[in-house]
Amino acid sequence: MPEVLPIASDHAGFALKGRLLDELRVLGFAPLDLGTHSAASTDYPDYAHDVAGRVERGEAARGILICGTGLGMSYAANRHPGVRAAVAWSAEVARLSRQHNDANILILPARFLDDEAALGVLHTWLATSFDGGRHAARVAAIDAVIA
Ligand code: RB5
Repeated sequence: MPEVLPIASDHAGFALKGRLLDELRVLGFAPLDLGTHSAASTDYPDYAHDVAGRVERGEAARGILICGTGLGMSYAANRHPGVRAAVAWSAEVARLSRQHNDANILILPARFLDDEAALGVLHTWLATSFDGGRHAARVAAIDAVIA
């Protein structure tokens, strides 16, 4: 069964989302497109909460969000317990967000990445595992304040 990957963007990420949907299908995933469905102006928190809520509830193991800077999506997504949403602007940051931080949502800053760079970030993030070890206690400590 292909992994179902929830993915959403606001208007600033709409065009890039289309490119990522194509790529995810080529890679053998089943992307779940939660919008937005046009380039009309819209509100990023609605999409961040939809994807992050699915990860929080265990309905998906990981997800993808796209907005202009990545920042607004990250503020909203990271309000959800158990969600570690990482803004990645390079493949190296994407790799480290998985190896060190066990990120379960990838956020792409569409206004600061061309398509080729975004695909490199996507490929790396999807293919990289959490290192565990010394990083496991650090990741667990992220939630200490709300435990
Ligand atoms: C939309 O103009 C922009 O504010 C949004 O995409 C994002 O960058 C917010 O953090």
